[in-house]
Amino acid sequence: MRRHDPNNNNGGAPGHSRRDFLRGSGLAAASAVLTGGATAAVEEAGAVQEVGPKVVSSAVEITLKVNGQEHKATVEPRTTLLDTLRNRLDVTGPKRVCDRASCGACTTIVDGAPVYSCTTLAITCQGKTIETLESFDVGEKGVPHAFHQNDALMCGYCTPGFVTACKAMLDKNPNPTLEEVRKGLDGNICRCGTYIGVLQAALNAAKAMKGA
Ligand code: FES
Ligand code: FES
Repeated sequence: MRRHDPNNNNGGAPGHSRRDFLRGSGLAAASAVLTGGATAAVEEAGAVQEVGPKVVSSAVEITLKVNGQEHKATVEPRTTLLDTLRNRLDVTGPKRVCDRASCGACTTIVDGAPVYSCTTLAITCQGKTIETLESFDVGEKGVPHAFHQNDALMCGYCTPGFVTACKAMLDKNPNPTLEEVRKGLDGNICRCGTYIGVLQAALNAAKAMKGA
């Protein structure tokens, strides 16, 4: 999985938006189930048939490091990170809205990069660092506080994803320009149109975090 390029805060190659990057990550994760690390993980768990095409259907036990703690879960290889977090580990910060890599409500930080957890396979996240909203600083120097202070939400459906994408962006680039904030958050959609508040919250969070 590619990480954010600190010189290109959209998280992908120059000329590509973070949305492109996030979509690419999801597709890469999906294809990885038949190759590389994902297949190795399944083989370890003894779930791959020995003869004929590799049809992976059995549930496997995986270990995920979420917010600094290791958790075991038994999932089918096709199970997404979002389903595993919400339905198996009771980590409900990432939300399911579109469930098809379009809105960003499910954004989760994996090895420092924001990903759409609704299209990321859980088995590909073993051995990686997974961060969700639950681990963020909720004090005055944290990103959630900046969203609250800048009216950066209305219905709130999109907010966990925006907060998470914002945290991932600021971890990579603590001094973003407005344009860099726009690019860093362009994988997320707000149907209520709170973008002005979101952008201001991100800039204010950057200032607050510097004083942390
Ligand atoms: S729920 Fe994952 S991108 Fe919308
Ligand atoms: S606050 Fe309603 S979708 Fe963003």
